[in-house]
Amino acid sequence: MGQEIPGCINLTLGEPDFCPPEHALEAGSQAAEAGMTHYAPTNGMSELREGLAQKAYRDYGLSYDPNCEVLITVGGTEAIFTALMGLLNPGDEVLIPNPGFVAYEPGVLLAEGIPTYVPLIEEKDFLPSVEDVTSLVTDRSRVMILNFPNNPTGAVLSYDEAATLAKIAVDRDMIVISDEVYEKIVYNGTQHYCLATFPGMRERTLVVNSFSKTYAMTGLRVGYVYGPRELISSLWLVHQYVVACVDNLAQFIALAALKGSQDFVKDMLREFDRRRHLVHKRLNKIDGFECQLPRGAFYVFPNIKAFGMSSEGFAEFIAKEAGVLTVPGSAFGSYGEGYVRISYAAAYEKLEEALDRIDKAVKKLA
Ligand SMILES: Cc1ncc(COP(=O)(O)O)c(C=O)c1O
Repeated sequence: MGQEIPGCINLTLGEPDFCPPEHALEAGSQAAEAGMTHYAPTNGMSELREGLAQKAYRDYGLSYDPNCEVLITVGGTEAIFTALMGLLNPGDEVLIPNPGFVAYEPGVLLAEGIPTYVPLIEEKDFLPSVEDVTSLVTDRSRVMILNFPNNPTGAVLSYDEAATLAKIAVDRDMIVISDEVYEKIVYNGTQHYCLATFPGMRERTLVVNSFSKTYAMTGLRVGYVYGPRELISSLWLVHQYVVACVDNLAQFIALAALKGSQDFVKDMLREFDRRRHLVHKRLNKIDGFECQLPRGAFYVFPNIKAFGMSSEGFAEFIAKEAGVLTVPGSAFGSYGEGYVRISYAAAYEKLEEALDRIDKAVKKLA
């Protein structure tokens, strides 16, 4: 629809509007000039796997063997799909968040698993409740997918909440795919807890991560998974025959981003934080919107139920009347109905203008 509306402001994007760090791109150019355009090892460039194993230890005190417990993937997307294909048997049940990132449900279905939807509702701060999760687990539940910081809600687990979910996974002998691609995008002293750090979790958790969000490298397609050797070897098998290896030059860029100054990430976060406050404050001033202040990622997920429209209808109305594109919450699952996702990965001035336009447009509904 965006293409049909001249001058529209696109707030649907799930990618930072920044350029990757200069020194990382430079490393890519140098690798290209040096002819590094051949296949990379199927599980990823060894220096990158070693660098990532060091990162896991530095950030979370987790030890992974770079030779067999770290796999470089084509973004977090391939990591999730490969994990589901590698782990599931037909009929296995998989707990997935609802609303949740759009790749989980199709991944489960393509792997012939059965999705079980864990509601993330506003009244519970968009966090999974122990009662819901325990009541949804059956003898066929094999995998639980968690995603914190969360897309689309921006919710982040506290230590206790993460520990409780981890305990359920241990007690019910489930594998956890913990999608932590927004791990570095947390605000105001909020801490992100890696699920693999909780008791009994290292051996049952696949930690999915990516360079896409942290270094604004979405188009370069470099992700990775940490996990115990037995699980990683199942993934590796699928990965090897689906993609052979990840783009070699992109891995040079990722390596330089990982090894170089992390000021880029701090600067990006500071700017996201400014925008987060702007969007949150302005939306709550508009009659009809109710918006929680998200603690992570770069989305807000306001409640739009007061407008009396479906989230799809509302997103369409805002697109036509205000020329502002948002994602209907229902695109992320049935529990997303009544919400829209607004990405603040757009320039501050653009966000100001979008909010002015939304304000003006919804007055017509009054
Ligand atoms: C929660 C979540 N996981 C995974 C991804 C996949 O990112 P990529 O494949 O670029 O690493 C995204 C992208 O939007 C996401 O929001």
